[in-house]
Amino acid sequence: MNKGKVDALLGIVFGDEGKGKVVDYFTPKYDVVARFAGGPNAGHTIIFEGKKFVLRSIPSGIFDEGKLNIIGNGCVIAPDLFMAEAKELESAGYDLKSRLHISKRAHLILPTHRVLDRAFEVAKGKNKVGTTGKGIGPTYSEKASRTGLRVGDILENFEQKYRALKAKHEQQLIDLHYTDYNIDEEEKLWLEGIKYMSEFPLTDTEIELNEALRQGKNVLAEGAQGTMLDIDHGTYPFVSSSNTVCGGVCTGLGVAPNTIGEVYGIFKAYSTRVGSGPFPVELFDETGDKIREIGHEYGAVTGRNRRCGWVDLVALKYAIMVNGVTQLIMMKSDVLDTFATIRACVAYEKDGVTTETMPYDTEGWQAVYEDLPGWQTDLTKMTSEAEFPQAFKDYVKYLEDRLETPITILSVGPDRAQTIVR
Ligand code: IMP
Repeated sequence: MNKGKVDALLGIVFGDEGKGKVVDYFTPKYDVVARFAGGPNAGHTIIFEGKKFVLRSIPSGIFDEGKLNIIGNGCVIAPDLFMAEAKELESAGYDLKSRLHISKRAHLILPTHRVLDRAFEVAKGKNKVGTTGKGIGPTYSEKASRTGLRVGDILENFEQKYRALKAKHEQQLIDLHYTDYNIDEEEKLWLEGIKYMSEFPLTDTEIELNEALRQGKNVLAEGAQGTMLDIDHGTYPFVSSSNTVCGGVCTGLGVAPNTIGEVYGIFKAYSTRVGSGPFPVELFDETGDKIREIGHEYGAVTGRNRRCGWVDLVALKYAIMVNGVTQLIMMKSDVLDTFATIRACVAYEKDGVTTETMPYDTEGWQAVYEDLPGWQTDLTKMTSEAEFPQAFKDYVKYLEDRLETPITILSVGPDRAQTIVR
């Protein structure tokens, strides 16, 4: 029997590419949907049967009764937030406990990790990362320090292990002079969340996944955040704390590199970024405000204004390279419908030096643009490529040529019908 494959669906810039919209196109093709990195810092908005859900830790195959969903070992999980997210789905009629397996190797985000996240940000002063405050950095640091608590710890002597780690964090917070916090209520919910989580299959998900592949089943690895927020390949130190790139699929799920099939890279027809850090294409003028307003670019987790700019081909080329992207998916094309000129950043420039490849230090670089004519036509009602105005066809062709990768899906509006598969 042919072995199954793991296809990856990845945000390839700064996250928030609108992946939630295309997952219902993708999930029916797979037997298993798995998250491999990140945690509740993600917020995937999914509209299913007319109801809006924001998935943070739970894979989007959860809406499809026949699918197995996996939270892999590369993820970090906050039991209280997980419980809230899962209960909302349960009350909407979705059965979770038989279809959602959680890796025993995934790490637990403690309430004190969230306090530490805030304390570290305060200590950084003007160099704040602008984190989501969900305790992501401290939890992954703890994992790397080999002192973390894993989901499998829930099964034995948990309370004792929890108290010991919490006491260590309290001491760290005293050392940081960050003592004005109260987690009593949060901790109650968190412990309730631990109990609730223990009702789920807590398993060796890497073994389950490899067995599924052996049986010829196909797996969708659902990314979170984006390549430019990857701990190794993003704009360090203004990044998240996990490997969001395709390599993270292998480590975060325990699947071998030769099981990877298609790598779908999702990007928007323009760029956004939440939080601090270099963003050479950022627009500080009314064009940036207009993109934000038309594109509803406000953070799904924190509600913050997203920083907006034109599409960044330097970042996209780099992301295509490190992920091995085989197909591109362009979201939110319609947001640019009314612009007379569309710009594309083709290089960065600093102190008379120009580069078309991603520099080590992205701080202080200015974008160099090429201008293309806008299509100034409403794309949102179009249902086939044949209807597209020539200027939009030219924009798509320009991107494909520059990026040397086909764009196989184009989104022209928020509704699932506004998706053109080529
Ligand atoms: P953390 O992941 O909460 O530590 O945040 C680190 C950086 O990544 C901050 O700039 C966040 O705004 C950003 N970030 C984390 N998760 C997401 C996401 O899902 N979408 C967009 N940005 C994110």
